[in-house]
Amino acid sequence: MTQIENVAVTETPQVPIEKIVSLCKRRGFVYPNSEIYGGVAGIYDFGPLGVELRNNIKRYWWWSMVQLHDNVVGIEGAIITHPRVWEASGHVENFVDRLVECPKCKQRFRIDHLPPESLATNKCPNKDGGELSEPRNFNLLMETYLGVVEGERMQTYLRGEACQNIYLDYDNVQKSSRMQIPFGICQIGKAFRNEVTPRNFLFRQREFEQWDLQFFVHPSEMEKWFEYWKQFRFDWYKGIINQKDRLRFREHGSDELAHYAKQAFDIEYQTILGWQEWEGIHWRQDWDLSRHSEYSGKDLSYTDPLTKERYIPWIVETSGGVDRTFLNLLLDAYEEQPDPTGKDNDRTVLHLHPMLAPVKVAVLPLQKNKEELVTTAKGIHKTLQRLMVSQYDDIQNIGRRYRRQDEIGTPYCVTVDFQTLDDQTVTVRERDSMSQIRLPINELPMFLLERVSWK
Ligand code: GAP
Repeated sequence: MTQIENVAVTETPQVPIEKIVSLCKRRGFVYPNSEIYGGVAGIYDFGPLGVELRNNIKRYWWWSMVQLHDNVVGIEGAIITHPRVWEASGHVENFVDRLVECPKCKQRFRIDHLPPESLATNKCPNKDGGELSEPRNFNLLMETYLGVVEGERMQTYLRGEACQNIYLDYDNVQKSSRMQIPFGICQIGKAFRNEVTPRNFLFRQREFEQWDLQFFVHPSEMEKWFEYWKQFRFDWYKGIINQKDRLRFREHGSDELAHYAKQAFDIEYQTILGWQEWEGIHWRQDWDLSRHSEYSGKDLSYTDPLTKERYIPWIVETSGGVDRTFLNLLLDAYEEQPDPTGKDNDRTVLHLHPMLAPVKVAVLPLQKNKEELVTTAKGIHKTLQRLMVSQYDDIQNIGRRYRRQDEIGTPYCVTVDFQTLDDQTVTVRERDSMSQIRLPINELPMFLLERVSWK
């Protein structure tokens, strides 16, 4: 049975993915990987603004998950591990997509992505498609080799899910950090999947980044912690989006549970792609530590220091995607606003949360050819730059400069004008309301820090 909560369809129109792809390329957020060679499907590079936004998203996750929880610590594991890890984890056996192919249009489809009519008739969903082939299994793990001598090379895999390092390091972390159950380990890191149908820009890629919490508990406390983290993660996402009614939980039916999960909820977000998974909350029970104990021969059980009870800890997992967060935040933030006066002042705005925006403030001299304005503006920029990402811009008229900053989500623009030279005050313009206030220069750092820092 699939359970759906918090269903509400908002009236705000959905943003087409193409608008985001175009903005990302034009303004330096995301580029197709190896573009000059024709690109590689499902792999992307992040440009100057993209890397700032991505780092902010990751830092905020780390801050709220690790820094603010006394019972959570972090690690950074390697991408390559011993190949037995993936046998123990069940991925060699179970990490497969079932695919069918259309002999006419040559397109491949995951069976679980086919529309019901195609499933019923076995016909390709494309207009001129034909009869679909028999389903075949494809393993998603990406293979690689260690060593250089032919015949002695060891075949292994790029990690198919980042969380495996946490189970591998569990015992070392528990002992070296003197953590007692219940406690959690977090990690942000790359994962690799040979997705047969990578699509929708950053939504389904072959190389992507995940953030995971694995929270280790006594079996009797599993339910309590599962509920705690499920709600915590839901509220976390709610706090960084504008369209709050586009977020919901969906419980997995027994037929769609991953091989390791006894219960699972997706936090879903509604975009032009429909309701889609953003993060999974999984009741992994003792699957992972039991399997790694069995395959490695190392006992990963825990002894309670007070009761001396010995048991394999159960695990609550929260596992989300950095890239999917990046894409969902852009879809959530993007707005094209027509000029209410009908003049040529339409603007595109990214209503990104100020603490996540790639550039926090832009400092703009009213005129480029007035030396005193330029010198003062550059001085303010130099001061702010030490505290946050600041941009100095004196190209084109002030209206165009505001619009350039709106389009990349800069929450504040500081304008240095002739009054500044008299009274040492500047104009501060807020992105969403476009309202302006005057502020003494020496109050700027505190004013901005209060508005763009983690809360
Ligand atoms: N350790 C559990 C795990 O990996 P998952 O549902 O396969 O679970 C977790 O992945 C999250 O990783 C997803 O909710 C999604 O945000 C992200 N993700 C998964 N596959 C992805 C892909 N091909 N491209 C981008 N993000 C992906």
